[in-house]
Amino acid sequence: MTATKRTLYATTPIYYVNDVPHVGHAYTTIALDALTRSRRLAGHDAFMLTGTDEHGQNIERIARERGISEQQHCDEIAAKFRELWTRYDIRYDRFIRTTDEIHRRGVLKLWEKLRAAKTPDGQDAIYSGTYAGWYCPRCEGYKDEEELRQPGNLCPDHERPCEWLEEQNLFFRLSAYEGWLRERIEKDVLRIRPESRKNEVLGVIQQGLKDFSISRARVKWGIPVPEQPDHVLYVWVDALSNYITALGFADDAPDYKHYWAGADERLHLIGKDIIRFHCLYWPAILYAAGVPVPTREFGQGFITRDGRRLSKTTGNVIDPVALVERLGPDAARYFLLREASYGSDWDFTEAAFVARYNADLANDLGNLVSRALTMVARYCDGKVPGRWQAPVSRGGAADFTEGFASAVGAPAGGRADKALAHYEELDFSGALAEVWSWIGQLNQAIVLVEPWSLAKDSARKADLDGFLYRLLEAVRLVAVLASPVIPRASARIFAMLGLGEREPVTADLEWGRLEPGTPLGTIAPLFPRVDKTQDVKENAVSESKPPNAETTAAPASAGAASAAVSPTPATAGGDRIDIAEFAKVELRAAKITAAEKIAGSKKLVKLQVDLGSETRQVVAGIAESYEPDALVGRSIVLVANLKPAKLMGVESNGMVLAGSLDGKAVLCTFDAAVAPGTKVK
Ligand code: MSP
Repeated sequence: MTATKRTLYATTPIYYVNDVPHVGHAYTTIALDALTRSRRLAGHDAFMLTGTDEHGQNIERIARERGISEQQHCDEIAAKFRELWTRYDIRYDRFIRTTDEIHRRGVLKLWEKLRAAKTPDGQDAIYSGTYAGWYCPRCEGYKDEEELRQPGNLCPDHERPCEWLEEQNLFFRLSAYEGWLRERIEKDVLRIRPESRKNEVLGVIQQGLKDFSISRARVKWGIPVPEQPDHVLYVWVDALSNYITALGFADDAPDYKHYWAGADERLHLIGKDIIRFHCLYWPAILYAAGVPVPTREFGQGFITRDGRRLSKTTGNVIDPVALVERLGPDAARYFLLREASYGSDWDFTEAAFVARYNADLANDLGNLVSRALTMVARYCDGKVPGRWQAPVSRGGAADFTEGFASAVGAPAGGRADKALAHYEELDFSGALAEVWSWIGQLNQAIVLVEPWSLAKDSARKADLDGFLYRLLEAVRLVAVLASPVIPRASARIFAMLGLGEREPVTADLEWGRLEPGTPLGTIAPLFPRVDKTQDVKENAVSESKPPNAETTAAPASAGAASAAVSPTPATAGGDRIDIAEFAKVELRAAKITAAEKIAGSKKLVKLQVDLGSETRQVVAGIAESYEPDALVGRSIVLVANLKPAKLMGVESNGMVLAGSLDGKAVLCTFDAAVAPGTKVK
């Protein structure tokens, strides 16, 4: 995994302190945190920078409106960003503020270099000229006439009037770097992704690059231009410089030398809104100043709601504080990175958040961990069982378990490499899909191998141990590979495996690290299921909530809900019903996601079933025929429109269909995989 140790320096944009943090800010910051964690996990050296962009006219105006100093306003909002990152478990290496002294000194050093710089064709890179144009004070930038909305010369982003301004400014001769930029970008020396963003940037170059003004009159809250103290440096030059000033560019500090000048990769994560500044202005400025340039830029997609851009005016903002409080940091991080491909725009919905949480975290991962650990507690005295190398075969499961053995055998059948490669490409949903397909395979393996049956046969103890050892190892590796996105849950899985609550490290990627005989830690639920309407606090670590309150289907009689139907003669002709009567019964395919015995009853088992659009709790009388563990993952047929009934005090919202053989219930299932919720006709 660590053939050559590489150094990655990676940054988020620095966020404006105009307002409190926004979910888009959280999106980039979580993504970068996941990337840098995954790079460290793979054995590389990674440094994560984030921070705040604090200068400019907007801040001047807001501080004035609030009746406080600019610095005080910036201090308050910057503190909110830091607090939020703590809540999201973001592990940045440095937080830079453009009001930091180290930044000011760094910007001035860069400025000196630019003042002395010559373009490739020998002209001064900086020159004095008159700038005239439509200026949007909110964007702090001039707009091309064609961009303005009419009537009223409105800024297309802020929908407020732009002002016609003329000023004597210093300019940066961007036009002289057109050829250099085009070549670098075309050849991927500066690797811009997704491809669509690269093409967009090449399109801008194709239209011809214009010089831009690099100093501003009228603004006081900024870094004064030494030669012209009534001007401040253009906010974008001030802001972009943070990427080097934070490392101590001003003093040629060791961090600057190691993580910027000496890094194998200098990567900026950005929103698609700031591509032009990062992919054109910034590399050209650095090149002119004789400073190493970025090697990679990635433009993330935008989150929308109801298909619209998030905006306070529209009232469709997503509060990142509420989001992290809803189901805890792991759930929010997982959802944001799993739901869509990182470079694409996507629409946020609360329903999708809860559905992903329940399906992927509570069901798939939560069940795997609890089933694996519970079986080891039960069958192996709560200690890591002995290793057994031969594949475990059982009934029709032979092929599958061989596949399973190699999938989870050293060195994890390539799964680890694949997941890490997806992370490296910022393909978070791909990395998580890889890990979750493995989780699915492992859950399936439990159903097929039936360890509870092996446990009944003492001659198969070695098989049982071997299977459970592999399963625990697989669970451990799942925790390792998911740790960049769900660090808290991973550490908790480690604790349950008896490894101590800690972050996985590179050596943990190796197969077979669990030592037989190690006592497991305390088994606790990882992600208790939640209902759409419930308000759940921090990380949902403590207790499970009551079943789906939205499920209002209807009492089944005790007999009906107990499901196992004894053989009776087929209905005689006279008692037949017509199709309209049958149509009243709503039969649906459902998937069992959790099962547990009901205390005090031999027959009854409480099931949670996935009906596609909702989850139901159903009580079925099949406990004498099926172990709860063997039920999870099965597809069944459910009478979905029965009125609710209570059995042994437990509410049941439907009836599971089963036949019977020698007095034992036999579940009705499907011949091929049918999606939960599918109507059975
Ligand atoms: N201060 C500048 C950046 C200077 S970097 C040298 C700035 N700040 S910002 O506060 O407006 O943050 C912009 C970034 O926030 C975007 O580039 C993007 O990373 C993120 N997002 C803001 N809204 C977003 C969405 N709705 N969706 C996804 N990310 C978005 O621009």
